[in-house]
Amino acid sequence: MYLGKVMVVFGTRPEAIKMAPVVKELEKVADIETIVVVTAQHREMLDQVLYLFDINPKYDLDLMKEKQDLYSITAGVILGLQKIIETEKPDLLLVHGDTSTTFAAALAAFYQKVPVGHVEAGLRTKNKYSPYPEEMNRVLTSRLAELHFAPTDTARENLLAEATANFKIWVTGNTVIDALLKVVKEEYILADSLANINTDNRIILVTTHRRENWGNKMKDIYKALLDLVAEFADIELVFPVHMNPIVRDLAVEMLGNKERIHLIEPLDYEPFANLMNKSYMILTDSGGLQEEAPSLGKPVLVLRDTTERPEAVVAGTVKLVGTVRDNIYREAKLLLNDEGEYMKMAKAINPYGDGQAALRIVNVIKDFLYTRIGSEV
Ligand code: UD1
Ligand code: UDP
Repeated sequence: MYLGKVMVVFGTRPEAIKMAPVVKELEKVADIETIVVVTAQHREMLDQVLYLFDINPKYDLDLMKEKQDLYSITAGVILGLQKIIETEKPDLLLVHGDTSTTFAAALAAFYQKVPVGHVEAGLRTKNKYSPYPEEMNRVLTSRLAELHFAPTDTARENLLAEATANFKIWVTGNTVIDALLKVVKEEYILADSLANINTDNRIILVTTHRRENWGNKMKDIYKALLDLVAEFADIELVFPVHMNPIVRDLAVEMLGNKERIHLIEPLDYEPFANLMNKSYMILTDSGGLQEEAPSLGKPVLVLRDTTERPEAVVAGTVKLVGTVRDNIYREAKLLLNDEGEYMKMAKAINPYGDGQAALRIVNVIKDFLYTRIGSEV
């Protein structure tokens, strides 16, 4: 029996990685018509993921502009989706996480009374400006959504505390683990672009991009990285640099052409995930890496003042170290010098799921569409 049409909307690299397992699972259901719409808030970084997971969007808003701002991206998504939603009339629109695409797409759906399903719902720092603008994007998306797919019990509690109805929340695990398990292989050989890295040394994987870290905080982070390379002759810093020119220009200015610091292009997800698996530890302000690294047993120092992902912090594999140069240096040095401290953090735990999150989400969607048909008869 035909159940209906689901429109999946996303725009950035992490949304694509985490929605890919859901799209693939939806596509297995013959009774559901699945339509993928990309806003292309990101371009190259998004396309890498579409190619890897063989996802063919029906619509591509192609919005990305160099140094775009929050206004243009938000307005572009709403206006771009208006006609598509009018034409396609989906029975459900799925968004992911907390980007500008997420919130704007949920609002565009609401304007045409299309119910919204929110994947990775309920993450909170309870600080409006950290991360910025993501905390408000996800709070506002929760207000608009009908189905809330919470990755963990903590996320569910956050939603309940905001008076979201219990029967509209499902704890599914995080779909990032579904994606990760598909690409990480112990026998993986590192990509050619990493050939000049001395793998006898310890690899420290670095990523930065957070808007609230732009400027002095990011400078401090980079100074701490320089301190570490100066102190430890047996480390290689590998830094796939985000394509945002604000991040890129500073990284090149401060860290370019330095011995044992490898500034490289963003890696495809498969080589990146496998590089994570071969790293000694990870220094990052990314959200997704905080979820992936614990299941690979890699300690993560989070270069932020807040995290919406407390589960791995509680489990002891992720530490929030902030953005102060000396603190970053001290915490990283501890893990490089003290094997006991390192081993305490390097335990494989997985608070974020068992790789079956997408299947759970699609089962809920099937029920939702079926019940809707029933109520319309
Ligand atoms: C966005 C999201 C953030 C998410 C991050 C993941 C918002 C406000 N921010 O931040 O929540 O954590 O993605 O990476 O939704 N660029 C390219 N090519 C690309 C991607 C980006 O050139 O493939 C450059 C462009 O100049 C673009 C800029 O990066 O204008 C910023 O992209 P944007 O999506 O606005 O912000 P991010 O910092 O990537
Ligand atoms: N990632 C990738 N290639 C890279 C860097 C990161 O595929 O060069 C993946 C990473 O494994 C994670 C996601 O991109 O799944 C995280 O993206 P990002 O840090 O840009 O966003 P956030 O998770 O902070 O929203």
